[in-house]
Amino acid sequence: MNDRHPLPSPDDEASFKFSPDMMRDALQEMQIYRAAIKEITTKLENLDGSFEVRFEYNPIHHIESRLKSIPSIIKKLRRLGFEPNVENMKKALHDVAGVRVICNYFDDLDKLADMLLAQEDVKLIQRKDYHKNPKPNGYRSLHLVVSTPVYLANERREVMVEIQIRTIAMDLWASLEHQLRYKNGNDRPVPDDLSYRLFSCAKVLSEVDSEMQYIYDEIQKLNGREE
Ligand code: GTP
Ligand code: MG
Repeated sequence: MNDRHPLPSPDDEASFKFSPDMMRDALQEMQIYRAAIKEITTKLENLDGSFEVRFEYNPIHHIESRLKSIPSIIKKLRRLGFEPNVENMKKALHDVAGVRVICNYFDDLDKLADMLLAQEDVKLIQRKDYHKNPKPNGYRSLHLVVSTPVYLANERREVMVEIQIRTIAMDLWASLEHQLRYKNGNDRPVPDDLSYRLFSCAKVLSEVDSEMQYIYDEIQKLNGREE
């Protein structure tokens, strides 16, 4: 993910699967998803700013975002058994707009999620808590799918955004695991013994998260700043 998400070019590799009309609609639609990313990112930045004023503390380490590319959209729709078109994209995919929030401590995950979801123009569509219930491979993060309004020239549209909220340690593991599994030309499944070692790394990092949270809480107490 990165902070810039240029509109995909009509010359993208697999875009020939969309007819020219469909491609025009798709590009218009991507502009709307891009606006939704901005809305959610701004809301999160504002929450971080208000924490800073109230508690002299920033829960957010940084925010990343990405717009799914047209070839990935077509690939995923096919995988799910849908004809690749704009209607199916809007109906079946909830991760065209993606925002990733990297927090300092794991107590920040729920705090941020609760405050975001308390806003009246943010509607929860789905919540998957891989922090409290990690995946069997060790993956941890809090996933929310929300919808938020985007105002266009002549209409108001509810747009879905997938938000992944995780600590720096969770992000370290997820980034490297993703790279090891899918990048660097790896085309074979990771053998069981190495998957187990990856799982062990996730466990160690989870212990580090607990320890860092403890240290943070103790230092807050020493400074008379218990919440
Ligand atoms: P997708 O079809 O990938 O969207 O899965 P899903 O709809 O079941 O959603 P889920 O919440 O499980 O995962 C969505 C996203 O979370 C993925 O696209 C990844 O970015 C991230 N993710 C989920 N599981 C893992 C994992 O085991 N490792 C890593 N590195 N990332 C993961
Ligand atoms: Mg996904």
